[in-house]
Amino acid sequence: MWGKVIAVLVGILAGLWWMRGFDEGVIRGKKVLVTGASTGIGEQLAYHYARMGASVMVTARRAQRLQEVVAKCKELGNPDAIFGYVNGDMSNMSFTEHLIKESTQRMGGLDYLLLNHILSPNLGFWKGDKDDMAHLDKVFEVNFKAYVHLASHALPALEKSGGHIVVLSSFAGKIAPPFSVPYASTKWALGGFFTGLRQELTMTGSNVSITICIIGFIATDNAVTAFGEIQNGLPLQRIIGSAASPSDTALDIIRGAAAREEEMYTPFQKTYITTWISGVCPSLMNYLIRAIYSDV
Ligand SMILES: NC(=O)c1ccc[n+]([C@@H]2O[C@H](COP(=O)([O-])OP(=O)(O)OC[C@H]3O[C@@H](n4cnc5c(N)ncnc54)[C@H](OP(=O)(O)O)[C@@H]3O)[C@@H](O)[C@H]2O)c1
Repeated sequence: MWGKVIAVLVGILAGLWWMRGFDEGVIRGKKVLVTGASTGIGEQLAYHYARMGASVMVTARRAQRLQEVVAKCKELGNPDAIFGYVNGDMSNMSFTEHLIKESTQRMGGLDYLLLNHILSPNLGFWKGDKDDMAHLDKVFEVNFKAYVHLASHALPALEKSGGHIVVLSSFAGKIAPPFSVPYASTKWALGGFFTGLRQELTMTGSNVSITICIIGFIATDNAVTAFGEIQNGLPLQRIIGSAASPSDTALDIIRGAAAREEEMYTPFQKTYITTWISGVCPSLMNYLIRAIYSDV
């Protein structure tokens, strides 16, 4: 009896997994812009898109790192594809307009806008002092306002192509973790803005999709360093210890965006279950979060 039940469940899971697969050929010839692509998940997104035959523009502040990323994209990519970079700081809103103009001109349009960059979070208790306030302003400029400006400048080109906006959010944009309150707030704000914008686009018959990516702990150099500082000796270390790879995460995001998913979760089990519990029983989730972030 139980053997049959397990066999049916395994069959259903295998079917669901198969349905998540996608034909990488749909990416060939697409025009992609990735922000925050000098390292981490953004860098891996650029490599996967290049390998799948897309043209890719990348951006971040460090020109030398971007040159290296572009060189690797050229190695991996289609010889007819266009690869390039525009470096600049996302706290400067006029840069966001320049970036979209330059990228769409060079590639001859835009199909995918991947909003991925982040200012490294200042981890610790919120004290509300001058430093906290200054950081709050900066983090909202870079992690939230720049995303809104980029998407707004890109919309005309995306309308033409029936394109995609992909917003890299976090489980911190669904639950409320301590020690990174300004960072988490920008992710909640992104969820509100881009969900509302999606509603308006749908109401006006637009064919532009918006995918919000709910991302768990991923082993990028910056995240490993940042989490390392707060997790030492805490139960948190055991729970998030096994971080997912940036490359697998990038691939999952590309699949979710191509499928025009409204929200995608990666790694699925950890982020989806956490978000689900938080939705059904927020007090329980808040209690569990305090427990895993606490050494008492
Ligand atoms: N890694 C995780 O565990 C995790 C978990 C949940 C969600 N996420 C989300 O996934 C996305 C990528 O995370 P990641 O860990 O790959 O990030 P990361 O490795 O820290 O990379 C951040 C990128 O943003 C760029 N950047 C930083 N400040 C900038 C500024 N002022 N102007 C322009 N570019 C700037 C950095 O390049 P330069 O320094 O060269 O400018 C870098 O390319 C983020 O949206 C993050 O919130 C990550």
